[in-house]
Amino acid sequence: MKTLKHENKKITVSAPGKLLLLGDHAVVYGNPCLVTAVNYRVFAEVSSFKRDEFIFPDGNKSSFVETALKLFRNTFQIEQKVRVKTWADYKESYGLGSSSAVTVAFVKALAELFSITLSKKELFNLCYDVVLKVQGVGSGFDIAAAIWGGTLYFVTGGKKIKPYTEFIDNLPLVVAYSGSKGNTAELVKKVAQLREEKKDLVNELFAESEWIVNTARDFLIAKSYQSLGLYMNNNHHLLQQFAVSTPKLDELVEAARKAGAYGAKLSGAGGGDCMIAIIPEEKRNDIETALKNAGGTILSVVTNEEGVRIE
Ligand code: PMV
Repeated sequence: MKTLKHENKKITVSAPGKLLLLGDHAVVYGNPCLVTAVNYRVFAEVSSFKRDEFIFPDGNKSSFVETALKLFRNTFQIEQKVRVKTWADYKESYGLGSSSAVTVAFVKALAELFSITLSKKELFNLCYDVVLKVQGVGSGFDIAAAIWGGTLYFVTGGKKIKPYTEFIDNLPLVVAYSGSKGNTAELVKKVAQLREEKKDLVNELFAESEWIVNTARDFLIAKSYQSLGLYMNNNHHLLQQFAVSTPKLDELVEAARKAGAYGAKLSGAGGGDCMIAIIPEEKRNDIETALKNAGGTILSVVTNEEGVRIE
């Protein structure tokens, strides 16, 4: 067992949240998605201490951090106790991936504290294990976004992680929070159940999702946002067939389109959280006003942001 002498080394690491652009849910079943890292970051500070001490925002427990610590200790045979403090520069209820970002920031900070070199893929595998232990389900796309940052083409479990960061600018997106929090694990189970009942239909929809992602990727790279918008609309329609949208999300999507967005969809598991719209910049004010009138909260989001970093 490695035990560090009690040093005054304090490491702070941050990792970005994310928005799922296309491929939601289907990415759990071996299909691709497109995800972008955003300017909402989560921070983890660690130092050696005489006992384990956790300081979380609002005093809430974090099973992700506690599970990550256990897994890290087992993997690297470390006994040293640590003091951990985590915080976010945004409201965690927005569904922008705070659990995956805190897991990545924390594990990276531990690796730094104990001078362990981890490649991005090694960091991904460790953090993805944490997510599966805590949540039971998930594709790992949010962990990849927190590590690599930028904009990624991602396939389930990290089978493919292809950054498109250099081809892409900040996307012309409007993001609106629908006012309620979605439960990702429950919604993933809902789709799993639908797949058991209507296997052929759901597999057809997954194949369509794959086609949407693969075609829209070229429009994303070519900055053909009008065409990208059409594929977002198709993707939202597909997610409605999984019954993961809500009346409020549908209302916001509709409001954005009517006000001139190229396309709009829910982003993530659904059941609440955020919707995204790709827009002509000159219509931004109209679209934001329409979304506010429909009850949405506008989040000022920058996409294609830097991945995990030591602060
Ligand atoms: O709800 P979010 O933002 O965590 O997104 C979940 C996306 C799913 O495809 C439904 C699940 C996954 O892990 O890919």
